[in-house]
Order: sequence, then C-alpha cells, then structure tokens
Amino acid sequence: MQGHPKVIETLNALLAGELMARDQYFIHSRMYEEWGYTKLAARIGHEMEDETMHADMFIKRILTLGGQPNMVPAPLKLGHHVPDMLQKDFEVELEVQQNLKDAIKLVESVGDYVTRDLLVKQLDDTENDHAHWLEQQIRLIEMLGLPNYLQSQL
Ligand SMILES: [Fe+2]
Ligand SMILES: [Fe+2]
Repeated sequence: MQGHPKVIETLNALLAGELMARDQYFIHSRMYEEWGYTKLAARIGHEMEDETMHADMFIKRILTLGGQPNMVPAPLKLGHHVPDMLQKDFEVELEVQQNLKDAIKLVESVGDYVTRDLLVKQLDDTENDHAHWLEQQIRLIEMLGLPNYLQSQL
C-alpha cells in the first residue's frame, strides 16, 4: 500500500525523535546505574524499551506505506547531573508530545486513520506515562530537596 508522501516524511521525522529518546534514556539509565541510583536506572531503562517499541511501530508503519525508514536519531539533549537529566528528558517528552499532535492533524487531513490510531497510542504513552512521571520527579525534588530525593532513588 502506498502512503501519502507527507505522511511518510512526518513518520520519519517522528522516528528520528523516538530513536533519539531511546538513546538518551539508554545513556541516562547507564549514568544512573554507574552513580548507584538503582531505581532511576531501572525506570529510565524501562523508558528506553518503550521508546524502542515506539520506534518499531513507526518503522513497521513506514514500511507498510511503502516508505524507507530513516534510522538516524535526532540530536540528543544529554544532562550532566540528576535534576538536569530529568529536566532534559522532560523537554524531550514535551517536544515529542507537540510533534505527535501536529502529526495527528496532518494524517487526519489526508484520511489516514490507521496511522492516526498509532499516533494517539503514542501520545497517550507520552502524556500519561513518560511526561507525567518526569514532571512528578521534578516536583518531588522541589518538595523533598535534592539529597532526600536522591536517597530515595538508591
Ligand atoms: Fe516515544
Ligand atoms: Fe516517551
């Protein structure tokens, strides 16, 4: 089945974002692990798996639509200490959220409702899981203070 060229282009842009998020969570989880923040390492390691699954959904859909998946991640936003890393990850999720919303409008306008469903599923993961959890962590640091928060993540 041949997809609309604009849809394939948009899916490839979203794929680059998922590959970036996956790599960013990969390195951030290994940094947490190295520092002994076992809980953060496990949680962000799990997010890495979610982003891999999101990338997989885009790769499969692009191939179904007769396109060529572009396996080049967008530039990473690496953090250098825990609050910085959580903030950078939150920014990534907000950017993905906006890109998904824009893409949903586009695929609706060309009547590609199967791609729309896939995008809505990812928007749900982004808003209700990833972004929500990151926002909670940033708020916990403000409420508990950084040393207490860090102690809770050992
Ligand atoms: Fe994602
Ligand atoms: Fe995400």
